[in-house]
Amino acid sequence: SRVVKLAVIPGDGIGPEVIAEAEKVLAAVTAESDVTFDKTRFSLGAARYLETGDTLTDDDLAAIASHDAILLGAVGGVPGDPRLKDANIERGLLLKLRFTLDHYVNLRPSRLYPGFSGPLSTPGEIDFVVVREGTEGPYVGNGGAIRVGTTHEVANETSVNTAYGVERVARFAFAQAQKRRKKLTLVHKTNVLVHAGGLWQRIVNEVATEYPEVAVDYLHVDAVTIFLVTNPSRFDVIVTDNLFGDILTDLAGAVTGGIGLAASGNINPDGAFPSMFEPVHGSAPDIAGKQLADPTAAIGSIALLLDHLGLEAEAARVIRAIEADVAARGDAKRSTSEIGDAISSRVLA
Ligand code: NAD
Ligand code: IPM
Ligand code: MN
Repeated sequence: SRVVKLAVIPGDGIGPEVIAEAEKVLAAVTAESDVTFDKTRFSLGAARYLETGDTLTDDDLAAIASHDAILLGAVGGVPGDPRLKDANIERGLLLKLRFTLDHYVNLRPSRLYPGFSGPLSTPGEIDFVVVREGTEGPYVGNGGAIRVGTTHEVANETSVNTAYGVERVARFAFAQAQKRRKKLTLVHKTNVLVHAGGLWQRIVNEVATEYPEVAVDYLHVDAVTIFLVTNPSRFDVIVTDNLFGDILTDLAGAVTGGIGLAASGNINPDGAFPSMFEPVHGSAPDIAGKQLADPTAAIGSIALLLDHLGLEAEAARVIRAIEADVAARGDAKRSTSEIGDAISSRVLA
């Protein structure tokens, strides 16, 4: 039987609450299969930093990297908490993992579940996937500030875009489109960000010649925010840079019924490093500790994890259980664990 070494990082806020439910569902779906998940728990995040002063040590990183895959809840404290200023959990932990483990594809599917009405009055069918670049762009931390705090302060964040980095994520996006409805939309802001935009546009055009069946179009990112609300059905695969992808996928979560449903995978398609699965949302300090969080996004991330590991049948069972639960949702308020229990029992049924 197959053993998968899984690193589990519950994290902060609602992270541990939603991860507990994701683990329930993982246990249910593997209960009778011949794959076993051998889990190691890592206590990382704002809470750990406040206790010990550590964000992510080299030992933590090496230990995590020795696993086959990673499941993460959410990390980060209350935005603006001065005690966390020096730690910068987001950069020092989450982005450090994504960068070091070369998660160059940040895969964020968006689907309006059957029978579920989101906030849009005429949504049509919504089923697209955002392929967000994960290791470059304005996220690299290539910047700096001088004369900080003075009236002459200058603060720069430089977006780094390499031909190598754009090409590999573009290839992944085209391969996705080829398997789906064969439509790819490049999203950028080429009218203003001419250098990076030019590179993205040229490389996408080049890779497109290898995928003659995939229809390619281009939209400026600001226009995409319109279409995500007025005509989300027009999208199949979106490929975009790290920052645009971050912003668009929160919006995508909202139009498909809430950020509590949006799952993601930080993928190293080459398999050189473990990929990491996590909900799109954060630690939600405003609702943490109250069993108010929707664990569906974390559970959906289990489906992405199973799929990545080649366990397609198990992944499909999780998706079907989520679909059934979502379709049966009324106005009744359920706790985080009640939702997790309901989805687990549908997996077992
Ligand atoms: P957030 O996603 O944590 O919360 C935004 C809003 O969505 C809040 O009102 C929250 O209650 C709600 N929400 C989020 N997840 C939900 C769920 N599962 N069910 C129901 N409602 C949910 O974003 P934020 O407030 O900007 O960030 C809070 C902290 O999380 C910050 O420290 C931020 O840096 C961090 N963060 C971490 C990750 C991550 O670990 N991947 C992602 C985003 C934000
Ligand atoms: C996300 C988050 C992260 C990002 C932050 C917390 C670094 O918003 O996973 O979407 O910007 O990628
Ligand atoms: Mn985000």
